[in-house]
Amino acid sequence: MSRHRRRLLYLTGFMGSGKSTVGALVAGRLHWPFIDLDATIEAGQGVTIRDIFENAGEAFFRELERAALVEISKTEPAVIALGGGTMAQPMNLDLIREAGGATVWLDSPVEELRRRCEGMHNRPLFRDAASFHRLYQERLPYYRLADYRVATAGLSPEEVAERVLELKIF
Ligand code: S3P
Repeated sequence: MSRHRRRLLYLTGFMGSGKSTVGALVAGRLHWPFIDLDATIEAGQGVTIRDIFENAGEAFFRELERAALVEISKTEPAVIALGGGTMAQPMNLDLIREAGGATVWLDSPVEELRRRCEGMHNRPLFRDAASFHRLYQERLPYYRLADYRVATAGLSPEEVAERVLELKIF
């Protein structure tokens, strides 16, 4: 881990794992800027992620995601919340590693994730329980590539943030 500059922290994990909420809390505690990748894409395009998926498709979204990741990775120090699919694009993980970033996987039980995402309408890849579980299984091998894992089951966002801060990253 010595190759990490340790001042660029990327949070990964499935939809609903709390990357944005926890990321903002961790950044606040460190007095570092917080950058949300999805919000950066939405601000850049002036439309929602859902609109991008519906009007231009996932492949185009992945291009925007990649370009935004390149840009935000130039900010240091920073805590960055990735999208749930960002690390599933191998080129993105290469970029994160080249940037010297440390990656933390917020690992939440799939049932908890599903409960959190149900009723939210801003997640184009959340369709039904079966496809949600399938996508979760497909994503696990990529999240396991993260440098650190924090199990979030039953913890509040503040408690998860505390666990992240306790990691031997900084
Ligand atoms: C996606 C997750 C979303 C967002 C987009 C695609 C994914 O981010 O980037 O809808 O592929 O899992 P969140 O994990 O923040 O919901």
